[in-house]
Amino acid sequence: MKTTFDFRKMKQQQEKISMVTAYDAPGAKLAEEAGIDTILVGDSLGMVVLGYESTVYVTLEEMIHHSKAVRRGAKETFIIADMPFLTYHASMTETFQTAKRLMQDGGAHAVKMEGGGDVIDKGKALVAAGVPYVAHLGLTPQSVGVLGGYRVQGKSADEAEQLLAEAIRAEEAGACLLVLECVPEGVAERITKTLATPVIGIGAGRHTDGQVLVYHDLIGYTQGHVPKFVKRYKNISSDITEAIQMFHNDVKSGAFPEENHVFQAKQAGLQKMYG
Ligand code: KIV
Ligand code: NA
Repeated sequence: MKTTFDFRKMKQQQEKISMVTAYDAPGAKLAEEAGIDTILVGDSLGMVVLGYESTVYVTLEEMIHHSKAVRRGAKETFIIADMPFLTYHASMTETFQTAKRLMQDGGAHAVKMEGGGDVIDKGKALVAAGVPYVAHLGLTPQSVGVLGGYRVQGKSADEAEQLLAEAIRAEEAGACLLVLECVPEGVAERITKTLATPVIGIGAGRHTDGQVLVYHDLIGYTQGHVPKFVKRYKNISSDITEAIQMFHNDVKSGAFPEENHVFQAKQAGLQKMYG
């Protein structure tokens, strides 16, 4: 299993880091088999799996439930779990409790928290307590209400400078990774070059130390709008619909089950009685 130490080494050796989200055991197993470097149990869970409108509705219990499944499916992969909306802001006690539950009950190896400012101070305290902390800056979806929508962050010079300053603070706090979401490529490049901490981008261009995508986005299993930064490697949705349609039609026509799908009784007499 790769560790935070390996991620730092990969950055030094300019080996890119791959990260994908996962929410259940089979998904995590396939990601591990594909050779992914690290798995994120993202709170994107809320949208891609649970059908919520945003990540704001995701609870700690849901995160734990799904983290456990991911851990069972991918036993040899470093797993990061998102701290969900309003489970780490009120007090340091709350932050510790949430991290503790995600690690002890959920089986996560590290936790991710969105935002700069106070959140980075909380990250620093977590690191001091032995909790690997992943920072998340740029577009922070839990703050969608405050940001007024999902849009690119750090576009103006002022915003870019502030983003860089927060990234430096995250590094000083001891973050093991920094996720940068939806920022201009040049801004992400500058941050990546400034930090020793590996930067994982999503919608942050080509020059970060690694990339992360949402599982369902990259396999083509999401409905509706797909952001510009997503590359769809497959269109699994159409395969699934097709398979279920075929089953449906086979049931209607009687083409399924076939002889090789059915069980027979052992004794000839029984077969006569029931056959
Ligand atoms: O929840 C999530 O999937 C994330 C990634 C997009 C970074 O936070
Ligand atoms: Na997230």
